[in-house]
Amino acid sequence: MVRIASVLGLVMFSVALLILSLISYVSIKKDFLFTTPKYANSGGPRMYMFHAGFRHGPIPSQVRYHQDVIQPIDIRSQLALKYLDPAFTPLTNALTEGLQENASKWKYNRTAFTEQRKEISRYINVAHNFTLTRSSVRVGQLMHYDYSSHKYVFSIGENFKSLLPEASPIANKHYNVCAVVGNSGILTGSRCGPEIEKFDFVFRCNFAPTEVFRRDVGRRTNLTTFNPSILEKYYNNLLTIQDRNNFFLSLKKLDGAILWIPAFFFHTSATVTRTLVDFFVEHRGQLKVQLAWPGNIMHYINRYWKTKQLSPKRLSTGILMYTLASAMCEEIHLYGFWPFGWDPNTGKELPYHYYDRKGTKFTTKWQESHQLPAEFKLLYKMHTEGLIKLTLSHCA
Ligand SMILES: *[C@@H]1O[C@H](CO)[C@@H](O)[C@H](O)[C@H]1NC(C)=O
Ligand SMILES: *[C@@H]1O[C@H](CO)[C@@H](O)[C@H](O)[C@H]1NC(C)=O
Ligand SMILES: *[C@@H]1O[C@H](CO)[C@@H](O)[C@H](O)[C@H]1NC(C)=O
Ligand SMILES: *[C@@H]1O[C@H](CO)[C@@H](O)[C@H](O)[C@H]1NC(C)=O
Repeated sequence: MVRIASVLGLVMFSVALLILSLISYVSIKKDFLFTTPKYANSGGPRMYMFHAGFRHGPIPSQVRYHQDVIQPIDIRSQLALKYLDPAFTPLTNALTEGLQENASKWKYNRTAFTEQRKEISRYINVAHNFTLTRSSVRVGQLMHYDYSSHKYVFSIGENFKSLLPEASPIANKHYNVCAVVGNSGILTGSRCGPEIEKFDFVFRCNFAPTEVFRRDVGRRTNLTTFNPSILEKYYNNLLTIQDRNNFFLSLKKLDGAILWIPAFFFHTSATVTRTLVDFFVEHRGQLKVQLAWPGNIMHYINRYWKTKQLSPKRLSTGILMYTLASAMCEEIHLYGFWPFGWDPNTGKELPYHYYDRKGTKFTTKWQESHQLPAEFKLLYKMHTEGLIKLTLSHCA
C-alpha cells in the first residue's frame, strides 16, 4: 500500500515538474520575442511590422467571456497555445528578427512591385474581372458559384441586369498610394485613422464600420466589399422599415464609393442577393454609391496566388483586395492585416476584428478555412522585399 502511494506520488511529482518546465520555456520564448532590450521601453522606436488581417464572410459568432480583468496567467497560457502550434513557429522566428532589425527601415521597391503587377496581369485582367457589365450578361443567363457545387444556379433577371454598370468603374483609373484596410483587432487603439485618411484610395473589407472607430481606422472609404450575407447578419434581411432605414443610411455615408458585391462566390447568397437587388431597384437614383458585381473570378485569382504556393480553400477578402489594388495603384500599404489573437507589440490578447464587442473571444475558425497564417507569411515576405508596406504597430 505504502509502495503504491509513493509510486503514485512520484508520478504526480514528475507530471507537475513537466508542466512547470513547459510554462517557463514558454515564458522565456515570450520574453525573447517581446522584450528585446532595444524595444523594451515605450520610448524606443515604434515597432513597424507587417500585420495582416482580412476577414471575410459572415462574421464569427460573438462568444462572450470574462469581460474585464484577464489574469496574467491566462495570457501566458494563451500564448503558450499559440507558440506551441507548429504552423506558427517559423513565423515567430521571422517576426523576432523583423522586430529587431527592420523596425522602421521599410523602403519601397518600385521595381519589385511593378514586376509583380505585370505577373498578376498575366493571370487576371483586373479591370475586366472587377465587375460584370450590362453587356457581359443576358437576361435568363444562369450564373454558377465559385465555391459551391455546380448544381446551384442564379438566373439573371431584368432587375439584376439593370443594376450592372455599363463599363468597369476602374477602367483606366490609376491612383498613386493606396491603403488596403483589413479588419484585424490589431487596429484597436492603433490611432492609425489620420494616417489612413491621407491615402489616395482606401479599400475596405466587408462593409466594416468606420464612424465609431475613426480614430483607429479612419472614415474615408473608396471601395468596400459587401458580402450579401451582411444583410442577414446586420440588417435583419431588411424585414422592417427600421432595418431598411438603417441600411439606407449606412449606404448614404459611403457617398460615391464603390460597393463591391461578390454575389457569385457562395450559393448561400442567392436569397439575400435577391433582397439586395430589390432594395437597390426601389432606391434607384437615391444613392450615390457605385455598385460592382464581380462574376466568377476566383479561378483566375487563385491561379496567380498558386504560383506563390498559396492555395487555401478560400483566399481572404484582404488578399483579394490587394490583387485588385495591384492593378489600380502605384504603391500599396496594408493596415489591419494580422490574423493572430495576440498583439505582436505587447503580447496582449486581441479580438478578431477591430469592431468586435469588447470581450469577444478570438476564433481560429476563419484561420482554418482561409489559411490566414500562410497568407500572412507571404505578405510579410512581400513587406521585407519592399513590394508593400504592412503596418502592425500603432501610428505616430
Ligand atoms: C530585413 O531587411 C533586409 C533588407 O533591408 C532583408 O534582407 C531581411 O530579410 C529583413 N529581415 C527580416 C527578418 O525582415
Ligand atoms: C528591388 O527589387 C528588384 C527586383 O525584385 C531587385 O532586383 C532589387 O535588388 C531590389 N532593390 C533593392 C534596393 O532591394
Ligand atoms: C477574368 O479575367 C480573365 C483573364 O483575363 C478572363 O479570361 C475571364 O473571362 C475574366 N472573367 C470574368 C468573369 O471577368
Ligand atoms: C475617396 O473617398 C473620399 C471620401 O471618402 C473622396 O473625398 C475622394 O475623392 C475619393 N477618392 C477617389 C480617388 O475616388
